[in-house]
Formats: sequence, structure tokens, C-alpha cells
Amino acid sequence: MARYTVVSMPGDGIGKTVLPESIRVLKTVGFDAEYVHGDIGWDFWCNEGNALPDRTIDLLAKHKLGLFGAITSKPKKEADDELRPELHGKGYSYFSPIVTMRQRFGLDICIRPCRSFPGNPLNFIRRTLDGGSEEPRVDSVIFRQNTEGLYCGVEWTNPPAQVRDALASHPKFKPFAQVPGPELAISVRIITKNACQRILRAGFTYARKFGYKGVTVCEKPNVLRETSGMMEEEAKRVQKEFPGIALWSTNIDAQMMWLTKNPEDYGVIVASNLFGDVASDAFAGLVGGLGFACSGNIGDDVAVFEPTHGSAPKYEKLDPPIVNPIAMILSAAMLLDHVGEADKAKRVRDAVAAVVREGKVRTYDMLRLTGGPDVFKKGATTTSQMTDAILCHL
Ligand code: NAI
Ligand code: MG
Repeated sequence: MARYTVVSMPGDGIGKTVLPESIRVLKTVGFDAEYVHGDIGWDFWCNEGNALPDRTIDLLAKHKLGLFGAITSKPKKEADDELRPELHGKGYSYFSPIVTMRQRFGLDICIRPCRSFPGNPLNFIRRTLDGGSEEPRVDSVIFRQNTEGLYCGVEWTNPPAQVRDALASHPKFKPFAQVPGPELAISVRIITKNACQRILRAGFTYARKFGYKGVTVCEKPNVLRETSGMMEEEAKRVQKEFPGIALWSTNIDAQMMWLTKNPEDYGVIVASNLFGDVASDAFAGLVGGLGFACSGNIGDDVAVFEPTHGSAPKYEKLDPPIVNPIAMILSAAMLLDHVGEADKAKRVRDAVAAVVREGKVRTYDMLRLTGGPDVFKKGATTTSQMTDAILCHL
């Protein structure tokens, strides 16, 4: 019997393309695991009214480790229209299965490393004073609180009377008090001390383990005084447990500006859910974008690793596939780190780094091409040729 069982959840679109590529890498690097398939995604919404069926939840609860590709989600009306007719009127409503998974298993720590691989033509370049250019080394790891904040799902259009009454008890609600219900939409940003402490401790622990000098908390406490304020206050408290690691703070808007001025100044960044999502996408843009952006969703018991890109439906049907498997492969390397196989994880990252540095094998995104069936004529390699090159180095 293998030491680990990994629940493999390809999902939709290019999730189905890239996930098997990461398993090829895990097998080649000698990871002692077997893989069981988990259903997730749009088809299961349409046919069963649930994009994350209970059987998949059971598999994750049992095996604790998951690899996830990507899912397709569509706006409310399309979701309702595509639900099988016999399921209509039975109270089904679409929820993102990945958000559900994070909340169901308390996967509250989301880690998104954004590291530049030297030689990647997509790396951020900066102009120097003498008119030349330089390529700053980006090595940022975003710790995003994954279950609360603006993604907690507490929202209404036309909120019920009790909600309006409660809001009316706040003086700042006055300008909205007369707005007709159907014209009023509310999303609640809920943040708890416990979750703040957990994401902060995760960030500080990582900084200490991997030699980062400090942790940057990226919020907006001057405006979001209660929620961002709580994150900042807890950061000061948690920092005391980590002597030697500095605490810095930035505002999310200013961070978006500084990121292209001096990205090398930012290492571990901790943020609440939406700001962490924004910051990690922005930093990913400095190091190659969606083809390189990997992530882990980690709870006390269960951990699921996924590229941050979606299902890219426009490329789903291309044969051979053109998309870059590196984001998925780096996510699998994070899984190796998570289970304590740091050597194997490093070998995978080194192999990716070698292929990028050599520059002989590049998927269409690395050549800055518009995706389509003609990219091979312009020098792009297929998805599996990219994996092959990585396997060669392993
Ligand atoms: P997307 O991430 O699927 O694709 C955006 C564009 O990025 C693609 O058209 C492609 O040009 C590029 N891209 C993405 N992955 C790539 C890769 N591995 N290699 C090379 N290029 C890549 O985002 P989009 O188009 O906004 O959403 C498509 C669907 O995916 C939607 O239904 C959306 O809801 C869903 N989605 C799912 C996510 C998840 O499963 N975690 C995350 C983001 C979007
Ligand atoms: Mg995102």
C-alpha cells in the first residue's frame, strides 16, 4: 500500500488537462502515493444540483490530501438555466465548490508563493536610472485568510427587515435608510480574532522557518477600522511570539503601487481574504502570471493544493492542449512540502527552474502569444511537452 492517498479533483476545462501532468511529476519524483478521483465542478451542479458532491467530501475527509485543478462557475441566471429541469424548484442554488471546500474543512490558511524563475520572459523588468533595465528577484509568499472576510457569503440584495433594522442602529447607515430594498445590496465582511491569529501565526512561522526578516500585514485599517483594525492589532500581538521577525504594514492600495516599484522588498505578506486574493494575483503577475501561480489551502486536518487559475474554457477543447502546466506542478510541489517531502519538492522546483532558464521549451503564454491552435507554428510547446522537459530534469 502506498504511504499517501491523494484525492485528485481535476474539475472542469483545463483543470482536466493540467492535473494529470502534475501526477506524472509526482510519480517521477518518487512520491509514494496513490490517487483516487474526486468529482467536482459544473457537470455535477447541472446534473445533481451540487458542484461538490458529498462523496467527494467523504474522500477528502478520509484521505486528508487533495490536488485540485479548476472549476467553471457562471452567474446566477446561467447557473439556474443549466440546472437539469427536474431539479428546478427544489431549492438548489449554486455555490462555488472551492469556496465551499475551504469553509467545510476549515482550510483557512491559503499560501500563495510568487517567486520569479530567472530566465522567464514574463518576469517583471524595471528601468534603471541610466536607461538600462533590471530584473528584480521576486520572492513573495502571500498568506491569505481563506474562509472569512468578504467571502464569508453573508450577503443580500433586498435585505430582510431585521437586517435593515439592525443596520439602522448604526449612524453611518442613515444615507441608505430610504433606499428601496431591491435597490440595496449588502455584503458583510466578517473577521474573527481566532482566524486573524491563525493566518498571522502561519505567516510568522513560515518567515522564521525560511529566513524572511519580517512579515507585512496588508490591509486598510485607516478606513476598515474594525475588521482591518482587528487584523493589525492581532499582528502586533502575534509578533511578540516571534522575536527577531519584524512586523511591517501596508495598505492594500499602496501595496499595489509599491509592488512594481520595489517588489524585492516584500517577502511574507499576510492579508484577509479579498485583499490576499488581490495581492496574490498582483504579485503573480510579476513572476509569469496564471501559468505560474500555485497555491495551497491548508486546515488543521485537510490540505488541498491548486493552481490559482480557472478552467480557461476557451482553451479546453484545443488538441493538443496549449496551457502551461507549471502552476499545477508547483502546486503539487507544495503538497510535497506539506507532507514533509521537502527534498522532493525542491527537486521539482529545481527541474522547473532549469527548464525555464534553458528557455528551449515554452508554452504559448511564455512566448506572449495569444492562445489558439496556431501557437505551435510560432514555437510554443504543448502542455505535455512542457511536463516532459521537467521530467527530463528529474
Ligand atoms: P482563467 O484563469 O480560467 O483564465 C484566464 C486566462 O488566463 C485564460 O484565458 C488564459 O489566457 C490564461 N490562463 C489561465 N490558466 C493558464 C495556464 N495554465 N496556462 C496558460 N494560460 C492560462 O480565468 P477566467 O477566464 O476568468 O475564468 C474561466 C472560468 O474559471 C470561470 O468559470 C471562472 O469562474 C473559473 N475560475 C475558477 C477558479 C478556480 O477554479 N479556482 C479561479 C478563477 C476562475
Ligand atoms: Mg483570484
